[in-house]
Amino acid sequence: MTDTSPTIRDRSLATLSPVLGRYFQQAWVRGEGHRLFDSDGRSYLDFANGIAVTSLGHANPRVNAAIHAQVDLLLHVCNGLGHLEPVTRLAEMIVEEMPEGLDTVYFGNSGAEVVDGALKLARRATGRSHIIAFSGAFHGRTFGAVSVTTSSLNYRTGYDPLLPDVHIAPFPYAYRDFEGDEETASASALDHLERLFATIVPPSRTAAFIIEPVQGEGGYVPAPASFLRGLRELADRHGILLIADEVQSGYGRTGRMWAFEHAGIVPDIVLAAKAMANGMPLAALISSRDLQQRWGVGAHGSTYGGNPVSCAAGIAVLEVMREGGLVANAAARGAELTRGLQALAAEDPRIGDVRGPGLMIGVELVLDRETREPAGELGEALTAACADRGMLLLTCGPSHSIMRWIPPVDVSRDEVEESLGIFQEALLTTR
Ligand SMILES: Cc1ncc(COP(=O)(O)O)c(C=O)c1O
Repeated sequence: MTDTSPTIRDRSLATLSPVLGRYFQQAWVRGEGHRLFDSDGRSYLDFANGIAVTSLGHANPRVNAAIHAQVDLLLHVCNGLGHLEPVTRLAEMIVEEMPEGLDTVYFGNSGAEVVDGALKLARRATGRSHIIAFSGAFHGRTFGAVSVTTSSLNYRTGYDPLLPDVHIAPFPYAYRDFEGDEETASASALDHLERLFATIVPPSRTAAFIIEPVQGEGGYVPAPASFLRGLRELADRHGILLIADEVQSGYGRTGRMWAFEHAGIVPDIVLAAKAMANGMPLAALISSRDLQQRWGVGAHGSTYGGNPVSCAAGIAVLEVMREGGLVANAAARGAELTRGLQALAAEDPRIGDVRGPGLMIGVELVLDRETREPAGELGEALTAACADRGMLLLTCGPSHSIMRWIPPVDVSRDEVEESLGIFQEALLTTR
């Protein structure tokens, strides 16, 4: 007899909010290493990672053991009630990963939450109101975070008024706006900021710049190093805080622990989340002690932020990354993957650009290499074709025209080869 009972998908669609957009319609039931299994028992090479979260693979034995042990010892005490060893230990370990001077950690639960925290800290500590963010950025869904987000109109529509005194300056998108010339893109964006300060926003009233050193949802676009250096210089000149949102680009993804390291700059505030606890909710805001002292006791807080179980997972994540040399692995495997994708691009004019450091690689699809018109439908077709062949690969960018490659940071050389083979086949079938 055929089973007519509703599937997980049917029940989910009937009861969960239709506000949720979904890349796939499979019901996911199990994860093991770099493979995800659906309710039909089919396995997929998971290069989506729950959107850059399960960076050490599913059911990572070290991380899961740490979670189990902490669950049995102590599941929750709000950090507002005292001091907790795993929370303190993780903060110490994160500080070891930071440039000198960034020595104080505030824990939250999600990226958007620490983005909001950083905006509040910047305003409170400087006594200034203006915030400058960049076109195409994605910083999250809360009111503060969405006020500095411009990667899609849909994320902002109907929510007005958003946070006041937020200004959006052009992000130097070299491939799309400057024919790939990073230096011209960088000079133009810096010039725009100078003009903004000369005509619209008093720099003396500006609290912060907030930027993703490599844009994520907006299209996997690295900010040129010269732009980040120019931004640092402008911030120093005017006493403005520089916030680096490393929620997607941090934790080794780009072949350095933090993407800002590629530019040789040190931000005033660094934000991390996603890969920090391999799937447990956890986020961090890191700055100097002096800055967070100026925030003031009780000026911000959270019931669950820095939950001991998430922090126990976070400790295991950093231990596994350090022992396995996984930041170096991201750099090495990223270089191999980039080379492989460039070879495919050489054969296929629909690939306009392959870019990005380490394992944060954007493959921009175009209708025509001359006009660079985005090929969003192709992005969606390739996502489906890859899934049909057993690999999960996401898109990004406003029209889904950029394939985003976010393999786990412990990905192997064989898996890189396997993924390139699947992508090549998907390209062939979507011709
Ligand atoms: C750069 C960046 N910042 C912030 C966020 C928001 O994080 P969350 O979804 O955990 O709130 C994201 C999520 O994709 C992100 O990529």
